[in-house]
Parts: sequence; C-alpha cells; structure tokens
Amino acid sequence: MSDRKTAVITGASSGIGAVYAQRLAAQGYDLLLVARRADRLADLGARLEAEFGISVQRWIGDLADPADLARLERRLEEEPVAMLVNNAGAGGLGPTATTGADAQEALIRLNVIALTRLSIAALAGFRKAGTGTLVNIASVIAFGPSAGGASYSGSKAFVLNFTRSLQMEYADSDIRIQAVLPGPIRTEFFTSQGLSDSVFPDTAYLSAEELVDAALSGLEQGEKVTIPSLGSPAIWDAIEASRQAFFKDVLGGQVAERYKGG
Ligand SMILES: NC(=O)c1ccc[n+]([C@@H]2O[C@H](COP(=O)([O-])OP(=O)(O)OC[C@H]3O[C@@H](n4cnc5c(N)ncnc54)[C@H](OP(=O)(O)O)[C@@H]3O)[C@@H](O)[C@H]2O)c1
Repeated sequence: MSDRKTAVITGASSGIGAVYAQRLAAQGYDLLLVARRADRLADLGARLEAEFGISVQRWIGDLADPADLARLERRLEEEPVAMLVNNAGAGGLGPTATTGADAQEALIRLNVIALTRLSIAALAGFRKAGTGTLVNIASVIAFGPSAGGASYSGSKAFVLNFTRSLQMEYADSDIRIQAVLPGPIRTEFFTSQGLSDSVFPDTAYLSAEELVDAALSGLEQGEKVTIPSLGSPAIWDAIEASRQAFFKDVLGGQVAERYKGG
C-alpha cells in the first residue's frame, strides 16, 4: 500500500477551496478535487501536478444532488483518505417569501446534508486508520441571524454545532476536527450568486490566501474553532463563558419568575 496521503477538498474549483488545494499540494498531499465545473478542476489539477509532483484526481458532480452525493460517499468508503475539507457551500438567496422552499432546500442539501454525510463517511475511514483530519468551513454568520440569509445563517450555525459536537465525540482519539469561521472573503461567492461585490466595506474582506493560511496555522496549533479575522481572543472566551453560564442557568429546574402568576 502506498504511504502517500490523500486530501479531499469540496468546492475546489474556486475561492477558498482552490487555495486549500494549492496549500495542501505544497504540503505533499495527493488530492481529490470536488466540484461541478470540470474545466476549472482540470486546469487546477494539471497546474498542481506539474508544480508539486503530486497526483490529482477529480470528482465532478453536484453535492446537492442525492445520487451524486452517494457516489462520493461510496468513493470515500472504498478509498479512505487522510483529510477532508468540507468547503463547498452556497449562500445568497434572498427573502424566503420570494426565493421559495425549493431554493432553500437546495442550499440546505449542499451546506448541511452533504457536509454531514461526507463527514460521517470520512470519519469511518479515520477510525479504521486511527488518524485523520476533518476541516469544516462554517462562517461567522453562524452567530448572526440574517434577513435574506435565513437558511445560509442557519446552515452555518449547524456546521459549527455539528463540528463541535463531533469534536466531543472524538476527543479521546488522534482524529483532528476543526471548524473554520471565515468573515467576508474576496472570492466569487458573492458575484456568482447575483450579489454585489460590495456587500461589506472593502476593509472588511480578507483574501482567500490569508484565510486559508490562518486556518492551516490554527489547525497546526490544535485549535478546534478558528476565526481568522477575530482580533481579540478575549471575545471568544467571553462567548464561551456566556454559553457555560447559559447552560448553568437553564438547567436550574425552575420556571423563571417573570412567567409566574399570569
Ligand atoms: N466568501 C466569503 O465571504 C465566505 C464567508 C464565510 C464562509 N464562506 C464559505 O466558504 C466556502 C467556500 O466559499 P468561497 O468563498 O470560496 O466561494 P466560491 O468561490 O463561490 O466557491 C464555492 C465552491 O463551492 C462549489 N460548489 C457550489 N455549489 C456546489 C454544488 N452544488 N456541488 C458541488 N460543489 C459546489 C463551487 O464549485 P462549482 O460551482 O464548480 O460546483 C466552488 O468551488 C463556502 O462554504 C462558504 O459558505 C465564504
């Protein structure tokens, strides 16, 4: 058996995923690149093979389509990998009243169902190998309800809680699991979905390179949740402290005074 390690990156045809592909190729990983746009993956794969002497395979398909997704899950089961970066994701939809249920469901299929099923398929291989790395790309919007982004915000809150729960399940193993929460990143993410390129002030954006390099640094440092643009770690500590205080309070077994006496 070859001792080469393979990393799977979903959504590798542009933006953050394409940078993960470049950086992991530079680390010597062979790659399985996943997306719908075959031409983009062919160009990227050829470039990385030539530059880094690695082997690149391509998986072309729609992760929001159950049959395509099942095909990739089978692939992960049959040919276990060392690392999975669940990066493919879609966002900008608009108000639920105008976009409708089908569009919201398609987003949830990609951002939630595909990420969940692929995580579970990869973790089965990691358990057998006793090691492996799972990186799930969430978003800072996991903390922010968003008019016009209801399913997007909800999907990223799912990714964060799902990933953190997996970390608890695998706490006593050598399997690394990281949630990455980007803020605004300059990619095709906004324009490809018909949104303005200036949703946020120019100064709010990081490049995809800055984001991925910081995320990989966080992974090496053993971080479980990496938020590259969060300047003050004290803010995260305060969120965690409030979360613990919240659970201490809600598990008191009492109805709050303000709801008593009609
Ligand atoms: N950019 C930001 O500001 C930002 C902020 C927070 C979080 N994020 C998250 O970062 C991740 C990557 O986004 P990005 O900024 O790099 O955007 P991007 O450049 O638009 O990349 C999205 C990637 O997902 C793939 N993809 C989309 N729908 C797919 C489908 N149905 N099946 C398979 N692949 C699909 C796209 O490939 P094909 O079109 O070729 O299929 C593309 O490679 C997403 O999860 C996003 O939610 C981005």
